[in-house]
Amino acid sequence: MRTILVTGGAGFIGSNFIRHMLATHDAIRVVNYDKLTYAGNLENLAAIEESALYRFVRGDISDAKAVADVFEEEKPWGVVNFAAESHVDRSILDATPFVNTNVKGTQVLLEMIRRHPVERFVHISTDEVYGSLGKDGVFTETSSIRPNSPYAACKAAADLIALAYTKTYDLPVIVTRSSNNYGPYQFPEKLIPLMIRNALTGKELPVYGEGKQVRDWLYVEDNCWGIDAVLHRGRIGEVYNIGGDCEKQNIDVVNTLCRSLAADPQGKNAEKRIKFIHDPRGAAHDFRYALDCTKIKTELAWSPRYSFDEGLQRTVAWYLNQREWTERVITGEYQEYYAKVYGG
Ligand code: NAD
Ligand code: TYD
Repeated sequence: MRTILVTGGAGFIGSNFIRHMLATHDAIRVVNYDKLTYAGNLENLAAIEESALYRFVRGDISDAKAVADVFEEEKPWGVVNFAAESHVDRSILDATPFVNTNVKGTQVLLEMIRRHPVERFVHISTDEVYGSLGKDGVFTETSSIRPNSPYAACKAAADLIALAYTKTYDLPVIVTRSSNNYGPYQFPEKLIPLMIRNALTGKELPVYGEGKQVRDWLYVEDNCWGIDAVLHRGRIGEVYNIGGDCEKQNIDVVNTLCRSLAADPQGKNAEKRIKFIHDPRGAAHDFRYALDCTKIKTELAWSPRYSFDEGLQRTVAWYLNQREWTERVITGEYQEYYAKVYGG
């Protein structure tokens, strides 16, 4: 039996990853170490909380003592580090928690594996570390690191520390950089779940600028099995891009969502509520991301299994069935945050 320590497992991708691991492996136990910030929600894991192969520990990755306790107790075979502050707009309002968790927290975990050796440490990163593309080109794993937002800069700092520790101390670290994920359990501050919620609750659909920015969309389950492949078969010290081969302009994503929601009485005519707003990201708003994923495709036989149509259909169906989930995860803090970014 292998114990995998998953940090940030109560968030969007982490909770999908834990469900994926328990559903597809017999001899894996998962310990979920999560601070439960506004983005962490144990309800996401209700289906497996009673499993003998799962344990939850509440804690902060930047708290060295608490992290040491969990390492000493669990002696994990591997670590997958999802824990992070993950939203660009929040990083523009206040970068402090991003530095504390994404940078310092990652370094605390790396120090820990120097003292408590593991077989694998997968650090979860993002295509945003590469910066922005113009209309052409793609990022490969060797593209320069040119982050523009505080979020991306903190993720880039963590990647570089992780890779430097690997070289310096001979640690078994692997980094994944994925494109924009979407799917069930995503907090409604990110584009797709925010637009679904607003469409279903009679609100405006706030598109930044002209909605011409391009993101490469990846269904979350595809990212999860890609990370699983990297954890078990990836080469130590390497970086793997994980992208959806699915570039879309934001406005096209929003229009497609409106069409998918049109049959719902509350989602009807949502396209009439699309509002182009002043871009709160300004110059930090990256124009386009696109990933070349040849490396993970050729080395690990990974490629996305879900088309955008299929993935979006599943996502919309989930949010239509889980309207109460969305309302439950939105706290008073969300209303304050919303007013700061969107006004009023
Ligand atoms: P999320 O915001 O939904 O979840 C983050 C989780 O980390 C939450 O459960 C939160 O409680 C926990 N957390 C935050 N600070 C912590 C701390 N100090 N100690 C312990 N736990 C803490 O994020 P997500 O969208 O699931 O992203 C997961 C990872 O994937 C992040 O590292 C993010 O940078 C990366 N990523 C996300 C995307 C995306 O599209 N969502 C794309 C590429 C990479
Ligand atoms: P987001 O989901 O926040 O992911 P990221 O910034 O990490 O790519 O945003 C995706 C795109 O959607 C990005 O170009 C910003 C845009 N966007 C809007 O137009 N309106 C919104 O309300 C949000 C949250 C994002």
